[in-house]
Amino acid sequence: MTRETWATRVGFVLAAVGSAVGLGNVWRFPWVTAENGGSAFLLVYLFVVLVVGVPGLVGEFVVGRRAKRNPVGALRDLSGSRAWTAVGGVSVVTALVLLSFYSVVGGWIIRYFVESALALAGGPLPYAANPGAYFGGVSTGVDALAYHLLFLALTGAVVLGGVRRGIELGTTVMMPVVFALLVALAAWAATQPGATAGYAFYLSFDLATLRTNVFSVLAPAAGQALFTLSLGAGTMITYASYLGEDRSLPVDAGTIALLNTLVGVLAGLVVFPLLFSLGVDPGSPGPGALFVSIAGAFVRLPAGTLVASVFFGVVALAALSSSISMLELPVAVLVDEIGLDRRRAVALSMSVFAVTGAAAALDASVFELFAVTLVDRLLTAGLAVFLLFVGWVLGRDALAEFRAGAGPLAARLATPWLYVVGVVLPLFLVFTLLTGVGLDARVGFWPTVTLAVGIVLALFLAVRSPRSVL
Ligand code: PFF
Repeated sequence: MTRETWATRVGFVLAAVGSAVGLGNVWRFPWVTAENGGSAFLLVYLFVVLVVGVPGLVGEFVVGRRAKRNPVGALRDLSGSRAWTAVGGVSVVTALVLLSFYSVVGGWIIRYFVESALALAGGPLPYAANPGAYFGGVSTGVDALAYHLLFLALTGAVVLGGVRRGIELGTTVMMPVVFALLVALAAWAATQPGATAGYAFYLSFDLATLRTNVFSVLAPAAGQALFTLSLGAGTMITYASYLGEDRSLPVDAGTIALLNTLVGVLAGLVVFPLLFSLGVDPGSPGPGALFVSIAGAFVRLPAGTLVASVFFGVVALAALSSSISMLELPVAVLVDEIGLDRRRAVALSMSVFAVTGAAAALDASVFELFAVTLVDRLLTAGLAVFLLFVGWVLGRDALAEFRAGAGPLAARLATPWLYVVGVVLPLFLVFTLLTGVGLDARVGFWPTVTLAVGIVLALFLAVRSPRSVL
């Protein structure tokens, strides 16, 4: 059977934007920012999106389009080595960790959407009286499990439709709706009293705190940047593997990063004015922030139930357009490598996710392990090793693939890009991982840099292939 491809260029971009725009922009961003001191975090985050995110996205696209295979098959075919096939295999583990907690949070969102919509029809709003206690009651346990399974089922329904009739059609409808409704919500939020104070908190860049905090926020800011761009897990390799024609990959990567950042900013323009207009503390950290402070804020506003329904509806769509990219990854592996038909591949992958997600839904410490401890590290380390592959194994072929379909201006960036992804970014990402375990605080900045250089140099020597140009 011939492999499916995207029907249109816009379809691919919207599917990738759909993967990027999600709970990362709305649910994770406010609490991770608040926990890490606000503005310093924001600046480092934007820096990583631009400097690591865009070239990194191009890296995943180059490999996906070149190999026209899932991450495991792509790394095997392009390297011919078992070790690299195993690196591709890690992406399946990362997708497993991702979707297991993502589906639980997606379930919370669906629940709040359903409850808000039912309240619109005249019923009571269950989370209104005591949002904190209510969230505490429904976020883990059988309730959470049921909604996790519902969210997973919705995800599976889209992926079952295939690349064109499922993912492309779904995201082409979902993304414009998400954009339009977020603009409407932001406009509404702007009319609330106290909105200006919200903007001031959100948009004020404080360079002094940046100088003192830059290394302590590096790891969480990089983790958040990779998470929001869906980088380091192999989902973008998978999506690019369905590209039929040659098109400018750098232009697409830039467009995707820009649209994703725009949605992030828009979401902030909804969330922060609302909190400030009601004097709610935006710093109440933790994964419950969205469901406690924000849900609590809605119910105190005029027309709040309507706004809450729209808000949770938008977030549910954004979450779904991301979760389908996580499910598509193992599905593509099973279809390409084992030859399962799509229906069986979806059923098998969903069964595994149902169980691992159930563990996260029933046990808060498993959720924490997946959502807080593991995910950022997997994405950061995954991207670092993957970029070494692009620079030092794919080498010349990566340059050719970068240039294919790119305009003359973008094509001239190919060689500098290869140096950045092959040398600079792995060093940066390994250094980031070391600061994430507090090494810089213990042994100092320069010893940490030296260790990062040493690790990356050793890896360079280990992976260098004849096609390398570096
Ligand atoms: N980018 C998604 C979000 O911001 O919600 C999350 C995500 C999707 C991360 C796919 C990683 C991934 F491979």
